[in-house]
Amino acid sequence: MIVDPERVDVRTALKRGIAELRDANVPSYTLAAELLLLHVLRRDRAWLYAHPEEIVPGLDAHRFLSLILRRAGGEPTQYITGKQEFWGLEFEVTPDVLIPRPETEHIIEVALDRLALREVRKGRPPKNAGEGLWIADIGTGSGCIAIALAKELPAAQIAATDISAAALAVARRSAARHAVNDRIHFLECNLLSDAAISEVATSLVGAQHAAPLPGNVSTVDAAHSRRFDLIVSNPPYVGRKEKETLMREVRDHEPEVALYGGEEGYELYADLIAQAARTVKSGGLLVLELGHNSLPAVQPLLDPPTWTNVGVTNDLAGIPRVIAAERA
Ligand SMILES: C[S@@+](CC[C@H](N)C(=O)[O-])C[C@H]1O[C@@H](n2cnc3c(N)ncnc32)[C@H](O)[C@@H]1O
Repeated sequence: MIVDPERVDVRTALKRGIAELRDANVPSYTLAAELLLLHVLRRDRAWLYAHPEEIVPGLDAHRFLSLILRRAGGEPTQYITGKQEFWGLEFEVTPDVLIPRPETEHIIEVALDRLALREVRKGRPPKNAGEGLWIADIGTGSGCIAIALAKELPAAQIAATDISAAALAVARRSAARHAVNDRIHFLECNLLSDAAISEVATSLVGAQHAAPLPGNVSTVDAAHSRRFDLIVSNPPYVGRKEKETLMREVRDHEPEVALYGGEEGYELYADLIAQAARTVKSGGLLVLELGHNSLPAVQPLLDPPTWTNVGVTNDLAGIPRVIAAERA
């Protein structure tokens, strides 16, 4: 047993947890052990290092041991603790959703920059609160992108779709927790289906802050008109052929529907971009996350005359991570 639950102090428990995870080849084993101990003790990091001599209550020591063993067996820390930070906000994560990744924050940065630039180019002041904006997040998963954008743009309306009902349930809970559930319309559908667009258009008619529909446009017409100012998506983009190269934490624990885009990985982008072309307003924006090898397959899909101002943003590792384009 790595922790003697009879009488173990914080320092000893942590040291033994770290050693167990290191022996099991867990990446970032020190951080993982710390997070699990903090989770069990319901404390923060400052407390942990200020109280190394504190005795860990027996039940907590047992619980810590069982969590360390789960992590050593490959289960991601975030699925054990049930949370992950993204864009400075805490998100619920369960095995039904992809764990939000730091590189996905580039989607938020690029989207906010592009929205502001669009207003500047039109000689208008930036819509800091996203007044009148309609945004769609396709494949919302934990809801991290939709909720981060809803926080940044407190007057925008957002449609968040996912093919997984279980993922949407998690996203809905996080939206409620962050008090943005009144502005995010969650829809279970394949990418952004026509039925989903109809549903969004219907709620758009009733939405308080949305731009008014033209006077003679019925809900049915609106359902098929180009309504969105911005579409964002971090679609599944790993190739099934890469499955054996993935870390066990990802391969064995994250939902397959969130990981694999097809045999190659980039297969979903063509439909996604075609749907975006039908649903984004002229001058509206599309911002997509890319897999490490997606760019050559995706960039040609954003050609003129439909799309202009195509830009690619690298992540901190220098990998082309986000592609953005404007609807002509
Ligand atoms: C890579 S995850 C991204 C989750 C979240 N947006 C994020 O950035 O962390 C992709 C998400 O797309 C969903 N998905 C997969 N195929 C889909 C489809 N055809 N239509 C809608 N959503 C889909 C998955 O269930 C998953 O939640």
